[in-house]
Amino acid sequence: MQKLVYITLGTLFVMIGCNKQASSSTVLEAKDNQTFADLDKARIKHLSLDIETDFEKNIITGSAQYTFENNSAKELILDTEKLTIDSVLLANGKKTPFKLGEKDSIKGQELIINVSPKDTIVKVFYKTSPNANALQWLTPAQTHDKKHPFLLSQGQAILTRSWIPIQDTPSVRITYDAKVKVPKDLLALMSAINPKEKNAEGIYTFKMPQAIAPYLIALAVGDVNYQPIDNRTGVYAEPDLLKAAAWEFAEMGNMVTTAEKLYGKYPWGQFDVLVLPPSFPFGGMENPRLTFATPTAIVGDRSMTNLIAHELAHSWSGNLVTNSTWDDFWVNEGFTVYFERRIMEELEGKDYADMISVIGFQDLETSMRNLPEKYTSLKVDMKGSNPDDAFSDVPYDKGYLFLKMLESKYGREKFDKFLNNYFSSHAFQTMTTEKFVEYLKKNLTDGDDSFVQEWIYNTGWPKDLNKPTSKLFDAAEAQLKQDIENGRNNVKAKKVAISTKSTNEWVHFIRQIDVKKNTKEDLAYLDAIYDFTNSKNPEIECAWFEKTILLNYEKANPNTKEFLVNVGRRKFLEPLYLALKESHQLDFAKEIYKEARPNYHFVARQTFDAMLNYQP
Ligand code: BES
Ligand code: ZN
Repeated sequence: MQKLVYITLGTLFVMIGCNKQASSSTVLEAKDNQTFADLDKARIKHLSLDIETDFEKNIITGSAQYTFENNSAKELILDTEKLTIDSVLLANGKKTPFKLGEKDSIKGQELIINVSPKDTIVKVFYKTSPNANALQWLTPAQTHDKKHPFLLSQGQAILTRSWIPIQDTPSVRITYDAKVKVPKDLLALMSAINPKEKNAEGIYTFKMPQAIAPYLIALAVGDVNYQPIDNRTGVYAEPDLLKAAAWEFAEMGNMVTTAEKLYGKYPWGQFDVLVLPPSFPFGGMENPRLTFATPTAIVGDRSMTNLIAHELAHSWSGNLVTNSTWDDFWVNEGFTVYFERRIMEELEGKDYADMISVIGFQDLETSMRNLPEKYTSLKVDMKGSNPDDAFSDVPYDKGYLFLKMLESKYGREKFDKFLNNYFSSHAFQTMTTEKFVEYLKKNLTDGDDSFVQEWIYNTGWPKDLNKPTSKLFDAAEAQLKQDIENGRNNVKAKKVAISTKSTNEWVHFIRQIDVKKNTKEDLAYLDAIYDFTNSKNPEIECAWFEKTILLNYEKANPNTKEFLVNVGRRKFLEPLYLALKESHQLDFAKEIYKEARPNYHFVARQTFDAMLNYQP
């Protein structure tokens, strides 16, 4: 049994000596505070699901059978959330007693199953709640084609337990197989070897032969078709969206090859993307073999494909080498952002990579301003909290800046070799922050750990920061300045097609509008030139509506409302609801939210119920 003891005395000393964040968590072991599981006693190795989706009741029913390593334990403890447990059987087919513990507002409920010290197989019969946190059951009206219902799951961070009783911690790795029965006109897909088309029975079987963390088990059921891009990449989407989706992501094959040239062979065989309905709460989710993606990335100019590069990069950082607990989340996301931008630099050139780095930096500035200070360090202490509370741009872009600092200090060539070895030597393992620091000192910095305190444990901004810059953005800023000046000098507005610049340039252009200096008349002038209010590009809409809300440019209100009702991607919704709140338009915010809430996934509802003080 693997024990996770990684911190050396030296590191520990630094942690205790200098920083309250670190000293409050002088953990020698990678203890996951978000699970009930006791991995020293028992550890699941394989999961076998046999489930059926019920689109009338919005529930999943069936069984989960586990094969586990048993260290002479008398009980197997699993995480559950809002599950009904019907019965539990042992390998001999006999029932065994079980009980559900007290409800915990973050962890859910522990399921304690009586086993004998020799048992290694247990089967649980269960059903999910119609309000399962991971699952989103969509009506036909909430889909792209509006003809069939849709079901999607989102496991990260601790939601898998709401649809599968499991040891729901990233420090566990399991293989799985599944039999899933769905309505005959729908296709079932998982983070596993997938079917390419529907069958007459509506019964699908899956296998994930490589060990993954439980947050990466995923299921989607809907009317979707498949279009291959090359022999190992392709796109699933609703029939009427498939062509546009496959065009947008046509570079996927090259992307995988490019990623492989950087950091080693793609480890999962197939890399497909499933485009989900607009209420999917994230931009993308790196479910192995089947990335889940928002349709808002389909903007018609292939400018948002860094999202696919990001999820692909997780095939190494995250899925292959996995954060040990949610306190180490930056180990997943920081590496992935660095890798994502390296892929994009190879494919699209440095100007493109610079643009997304600047946008990321701006997002980081917002996070650093608005977050509770304790969440502005890379390593965080989430004990007693929901991992989602610490979700921000810090693990992403501060993590990126840290790796970028290492790259510039030691040189790209050396750093690339280092990363290559890091991924191959820790493949299918978990990683704590401390284990990474040890590896880094040994293999790159020659024992130097002067970066540890400032970059990893300290809150706020590090001193030796390399702020990203972008030539193309400088030009966009000059353009904005000129436009505003023209408007104020009564130069007649002349319509300009938005295709003159890429999406990222427009996002930057709009972001540079200064709500303290500019006015709603300035917005009206820009709108007369570029017609941002009627844009159908979600990136542009999000950036623009934030300004129109803050400057009270009411002409955009109906479109703002439509956007908020139709799109469920939290990253887009957050700045807009926040702007409404800050500009004392809480009533308008609540009016919209009431209508929009049924379209949002649990994770988005949770965020905005709290932000808007909304009682359902
Ligand atoms: N793994 C994340 C999404 C996530 C993180 C879900 C934590 C739940 C909890 C995914 O890889 C991600 O970072 N998506 C980004 C993509 C972007 C950085 C290109 C998103 O959703 O916006
Ligand atoms: Zn990510």
